[in-house]
Amino acid sequence: MSETKMWDGRFESGMAKSMEELSFSLNTDVNFIAEDIQGTIGHCLGLVESKVLTQAEFDTVAQSLEEILTDFLNGKSLWEAGDEDVHMAVERVLTARIGDLGKKIHTGRSRNDQVQTGFKLYMRNRATEIFEQIRNLQKVVLQLAEDHYGKIIPGYTHVQQAQPILFSHYIMSLFWVLERDAQRLQSFLDIHNTMPLGSGALAGSAFPYQRELVAQKLGFKEPTHNSIDATSHRDTAMELLSHISICGATLSRYAEDFVNWSTWEFGFLTLHDAFSSGSSMMPQKKNPDSMELIRGKAGRLAGNWSTLFTVVKGAPLCYSRDLQEDKEPVFDSVKTIKVVLDVMTQALESATWNFETMAQKMMPALLATDLADLLVENGTPFRDAHHIVGSLVGLASQKGTEFIDLPPEDWAHIENGEEIRGKLTFENAVNRRGLYGGTGFDAVKEQIEIAKTKLD
Ligand code: ARG
Repeated sequence: MSETKMWDGRFESGMAKSMEELSFSLNTDVNFIAEDIQGTIGHCLGLVESKVLTQAEFDTVAQSLEEILTDFLNGKSLWEAGDEDVHMAVERVLTARIGDLGKKIHTGRSRNDQVQTGFKLYMRNRATEIFEQIRNLQKVVLQLAEDHYGKIIPGYTHVQQAQPILFSHYIMSLFWVLERDAQRLQSFLDIHNTMPLGSGALAGSAFPYQRELVAQKLGFKEPTHNSIDATSHRDTAMELLSHISICGATLSRYAEDFVNWSTWEFGFLTLHDAFSSGSSMMPQKKNPDSMELIRGKAGRLAGNWSTLFTVVKGAPLCYSRDLQEDKEPVFDSVKTIKVVLDVMTQALESATWNFETMAQKMMPALLATDLADLLVENGTPFRDAHHIVGSLVGLASQKGTEFIDLPPEDWAHIENGEEIRGKLTFENAVNRRGLYGGTGFDAVKEQIEIAKTKLD
């Protein structure tokens, strides 16, 4: 059995070693020590206003808390064996340094509103950083779209060549989904902008306390409106994990394409050595590990979301200790998405796109839809046109050639067949899709211009 705890007034025995181990969270929750201390300084400002602390006492507390943070960041050893979580550890160190004054700071506060405040500050800070990283990736994507504007590549469905598209159109699809990731984070910052302190354990603090003042000091829009809501709910963390896992799943799909594109069979893309790995056995290998890891990490991000969802769904109101499990998934997902975004950004920036190979590998069958469309323009109903072209493609396949290369007699049944055949080029196919949002040359140019305004 171990030494005394801050809350042990009513206890006759200490905690069992096994229980201490279960309870311990200091090693992970130091991740938000800066925001925890910031929250405490905000709280103490409220205590000055309610005359629990004098201004001079506040100054002493705030200065000492800042020093504790600096010491921690400088790697100074601060913690003792009995420290359970970051909140109590910081208060213990503070009291050791400034004496009894340290024992006043928790007046009118519970760890329940303390943890919600510090953790929310942490999540808002990290969401802002992730937002900026997404913006950086969008910039790289936009630059690629501009640099390679006009280059035609095969577009795929079912990993089968489908229709010709502009490379810029393909890569800009990533821009727009990232734009929604950014908007989701913006919305997250708008929604989760209330300050929990003053909620106490569940019922609200019994001390007069200018919550608006503390909210303002900590950079929140306003205080929370209900102390039970403020201490019970973990939707902030769930939402952030959800947004992060959506972003991770999206990047995973592009990573999957880029793994394929890096193969000898495709040959579309050469990743920079800095984003590839070799094989310990096969000397010739250069593997697209960066993309495989991005794909793999998406599973982990989804797992973190699912972990928290499962913890939260059965937890009774208001606080139960289950809720301490909200932090590790968030710390892990934040760390993971940040490195994933960095790697994706740098890997795309440094990659070589092999447009010659892409052009060589384009199959004439990419133009089958265009032939059907041209027949429609000449008055054939689409379903009949589809059938006619399908038969032509089937015949070509039997003869071991491409529909476009069949001898004139095989095209004889098509009205103006030879004239239409002359129009079947990849450029024409791209250009015909000139409506806004399509792959047409001008449409993509317009898309790029509008994208630029999103980054302003
Ligand atoms: N370490 C705890 C957590 O993160 C702090 C809150 C503890 N509250 C309590 N009533 N035991 O959830």
